[in-house]
Parts: sequence; structure tokens; C-alpha cells
Amino acid sequence: MNWMNRLSLKLRLLSIVLFSIAICSLIAIAGFLYFNKQEFYRGIIEKSRAIHLRLDAAAHYVATQDGLDPVIDRMKSKYKNPEDMTKEDKEIVLKQVPIVAAMKIGSMDSDKDNYEFRIFSDEPRNKDNAASREELEIFLKFKADTSLKDFVVNDGKAITVYRPVRLDKNKGCLKCHGEPGTSPWSNGKDILGYKMENWEDGRLHGVFAIKTDFKKLANNTSARSFIPPEGILVIGIIFGGIIALILATLLIRKPIAGLSMITHELNSSATQVNKTSGQIASSAEELSQATTQQAASLQETSASIEEISSMVSNNTQNAEQAASISEQSLSSSQRGKEVVDHMIKAIGDINTSNSGIAAQINDTNKEIENIVKIINEIGEKTKVINDIVFQTKLLSFNASVEAARAGEQGKGFAVVAEEVGNLASMSGSAAQEISKMLDSSTKSVEDIVKRSKDSIGKLILEGKEKVDSGTRIAHECEEVFNEILTNISNVSRMVNEISSASKEQTQGVREITKAIAQLDQVTHQNTANASQSANAAGNLSSEAEQLNSLVQSLVQTIDGDKSS
Ligand code: HEC
Repeated sequence: MNWMNRLSLKLRLLSIVLFSIAICSLIAIAGFLYFNKQEFYRGIIEKSRAIHLRLDAAAHYVATQDGLDPVIDRMKSKYKNPEDMTKEDKEIVLKQVPIVAAMKIGSMDSDKDNYEFRIFSDEPRNKDNAASREELEIFLKFKADTSLKDFVVNDGKAITVYRPVRLDKNKGCLKCHGEPGTSPWSNGKDILGYKMENWEDGRLHGVFAIKTDFKKLANNTSARSFIPPEGILVIGIIFGGIIALILATLLIRKPIAGLSMITHELNSSATQVNKTSGQIASSAEELSQATTQQAASLQETSASIEEISSMVSNNTQNAEQAASISEQSLSSSQRGKEVVDHMIKAIGDINTSNSGIAAQINDTNKEIENIVKIINEIGEKTKVINDIVFQTKLLSFNASVEAARAGEQGKGFAVVAEEVGNLASMSGSAAQEISKMLDSSTKSVEDIVKRSKDSIGKLILEGKEKVDSGTRIAHECEEVFNEILTNISNVSRMVNEISSASKEQTQGVREITKAIAQLDQVTHQNTANASQSANAAGNLSSEAEQLNSLVQSLVQTIDGDKSS
């Protein structure tokens, strides 16, 4: 439909009006023709029904004349059997049969009223009246439905209106079609010599058909008016269409001109919008990228802060640990100092006990000297004993000499004196031995005393020296401990300071982390917003492009496409 695009809106609107008029006219003509046709059909059907009613009325009229019985009587007296009846007499009889009258009238008026009349039956007397297959179907329809008054068939070429014909006792039908026993000739045959069918009152015997052929009807109807109603309709429509077209042209001229101006202005603004939205889209894109970068660097910062945080908390932990360790060290070194004090005291004690020992040894030496003195005294006494022994020996000798002089009387005395001498010499040798032993004991005691004195003196001297150096070292130790103590308390103080500083640092880092998290959130929001606005800008851009093309096509629609 390229040519359509080239048309301007004005032309298009006008052509739409024209087209609508054409379509409306077509519909109107079609409707007119359709309803006209329906009317035509209805007319034919009405006319056929009227003819049927006329036939009914004729049959009724003949039946009410009661002319059949006298005619039958007349024929019975004139003839012996029906075969002898003249054609004229048969005619006379038939004239009195209502149905025959109806049949006659039906065929009589058919040419004048442009229809074909026919009667048919399933069991006809006249084989011309035998129903064809289609007719038999209609016959059976009436037979099945006794309330059916008539039946219309329209095959597009002709309309046939069927009406049932039932036997009616009151109309004398059974006089010929009824019981054979009532035969006027008493041979089962009716007055005209046809075999009576023994049918009952009300039985469907035949169907009247009134057929109207459209072509014949058209040929036979008298000449129509010069212009048919369809023609008048068409002329009216064309005339109306032209007026509508002129009116439409007058009416749309002004609005179309305004529309055209608006579209042109719209076109220039749409181009501007398109350009601007493109710029917005690109800056939104840049913003989105920048925000994404910002978010990434923030993420990095956050990670470093986290590292710092963990380091700081490590520091805090270490400082706390160091504080507790230095406290422990303080108490250990205090205990060390106490131990050193104890040691110094113990060394003092050792010193005093050493002096005690030395004094004790001096005492012991004096006592040993006393013992030596006593031994020497014992030696002196032993000499006394030796003198006593000598004098005793001398005495015993004197005694033995005296005894010998006494003779027999002194014999016993001589023995005693000898014994005493023996004892005295034994005591003398024992005393000598003791004296010898005393000498050697005195010597060895003196030796021992001298030696022990020497070695103990040396030992005590050594001990004193050692104790002195121990005391000195212990004092040095104490000094060192004192130094350690002051150092440790210094360290402890510093560690405590570090610990509290670390805690403050942790708090600070926590606040920084929180701030960064907030910043991160904001940046994320910004990123989302930026990408949203980038999207929106993109959408806007494409919308603007679409708008542009829409406006372009609007311009083309209103002005017509000049390019194609
Ligand atoms: C006098 C005897 C007689 C009487 C009364 C009579 N008919 Fe008939 N009928 C005939 C004869 C004869 C024919 C055959 C006519 C022909 O040859 O076309 C006939 C034919 C018909 C036919 C056409 C079908 C066919 O058999 O060929 C119908 C329908 C019919 N009669 C119905 C009636 C009805 C309804 C009545 C009563 C209103 C009636 N008749 C009364 C003698 C009679």
C-alpha cells in the first residue's frame, strides 16, 4: 500500500469518508435486497396460503350443499352398474365431491395467479397423483404430525406451500373412500365404480401443493416502474455521499492545518528531546561508572581498615598479655628480692654460727689442754706410785730378811713378804706402762689439738672469706633485683598505657569501619541509583527516538510521505 503513504491525512480522511459511504451503501443495498427478497417470499407464501384457504372454502361450500346423496340416488336408479355411466353423468357426480371441486378450482386459477397446482397421495386412485420420493417425505411429515397446518419449501427458484387433505365423514368423503359394505352398488365399489378403500374418518389421503416459480412470476407480472426501488436507493446514496464528502472536506480543512502546524513544532521539540536525552544517557552512564569505581575503592579501603582493625585488636591482646606477664614478672622479682633478703640473712646467720663454732673449738681446745694437764697430773701420780712400789719392795725385802731370821716362826711371814714384793714389782711395771701410755697420749692429744686447731682455723678463715663474698654477691643481687623491679614497673606502666591506647584505637577503628560501612551503603545506593538513572536515561533516549520516529511518521501521515 505504498500509494497510501503518499497521501496526505486530508486525502486519506476524505478517502475514508468515501470508503465508509461506499461500504454503508453496499450494506444498505444488500440489506434492502435481502429484506425485499424476504418480503417477496412472504408475499408468495401468503398468497399460496390464501389460495389453499380458497380451495378449503370451495370444498366446504360443496360439502354444505348436500348434493352428493341425491346425485348418487339418481345414478343408482338410472344405471345398473357404474361401468355403464356416461362421462357426463360421471362429471355430474364428481361435481358434488368437495375435494374434486377444490382440485378443479386449484388448477383453474393457476395460470391467472402464476402458480402450479398439484395433489399427491401415497395410495392414489389416479396414478398421476402418485407421490414422488420428495413428495412422499412431505406426506409422511403430515401423517406423523396431525397438528401441522401447512409446510413451506423454498428451493431458491420456487416456493411450494403444502397443505394436508384429510378424509372428513361430514364432507361425505367416506361415501366413496369409506367402508366397502356401504357401497351404493353393494359390491364394494363406490358410485363411480372405484374400489372403496375402507378408510377411516380423518385419515390423511393426500396433500395439496401450490408451487410458485420465481422466473415465471417475474415473466408474467406486469411491467414494473421505470426506475426500480433499488435504483432510487443507489441514486440517493450517491447524492448523499457527494454531499457528505463536500461537508467532510469543509470540516477537516481547518483542524488538519492546525494539526500540521502542531506536528511540525512537535517534530522540532522531539529532535531536541532526543538530543538532550542522549546527553543525559551518556552522563548517567559516566556517573554509573564513576560510582562503581568509587564503590570498588571503598571496598578496598574497607578491607584495609579491617586488616588494621584486626592488627589493632591483636596489639590490644598482646599488650594485655604483656601487661599480665609484666605483672607476673613484678611479683616474681619481688619474690626474688625477698628470697635474696632471706639469703643475706641466712648468710649472716652462717657467719655468726661460724664464729660460734670457732669459739666452741677454742673452748674444746682449752678443755683438751685441761685433759692433757690431767694426764700430766696422772703421770706425776704414777711416779708417786712408782716410789711407793720401790719402798714397798724395799719393805718386802726387809720383811723377808726379818722372816729368815725368825726361822721357822717367820716362814709364813716370809711367803707374804715375797708375795707383797711380787705385787709391788707387778704394780711397778704396770705403773711404768701407764706412764709410757700417758706420755704417748699426751703427745698424740697435743698433736691432734695442734692439727685441728690449724685446720679449723684455716677452715674458719676460708668460711669467713666465702661468707663475706656471698654477702657481697647477695647485696649485688639485691641491687640488681631492685633495678629489675623498677624496670618491670616501668614496663608494666608503659604496657598499660599501650593497652589503653590500643583500646582507644580499636574504638576509633570501629567507628571508622562503621563510617565506611555507611559510606559503602550510600555508595551502593548511589551505584544503584546511577545505574537506574542510566537505565532510565537509556529508556528515555530510546523513548525519545521512538517519539522522534513517531513524530516523523505523524508528519508523514499528515503531509503524506514525500520521500517514497
Ligand atoms: C363420489 C365419490 C367420491 C367422493 C365422495 C370422494 N372422492 Fe375422493 N376421489 C374419488 C375419485 C373417483 C378420485 C379419483 C379422481 C381422479 O381420477 O383424479 C378421487 C381422488 C381423491 C384424491 C386424490 C388422490 C387419488 O386418489 O388420486 C383425494 C386426496 C381425495 N379423493 C380425497 C377425498 C376427500 C377428502 C373426500 C371428501 C371430502 C373425497 N375424496 C370424497 C371419489 C370420491
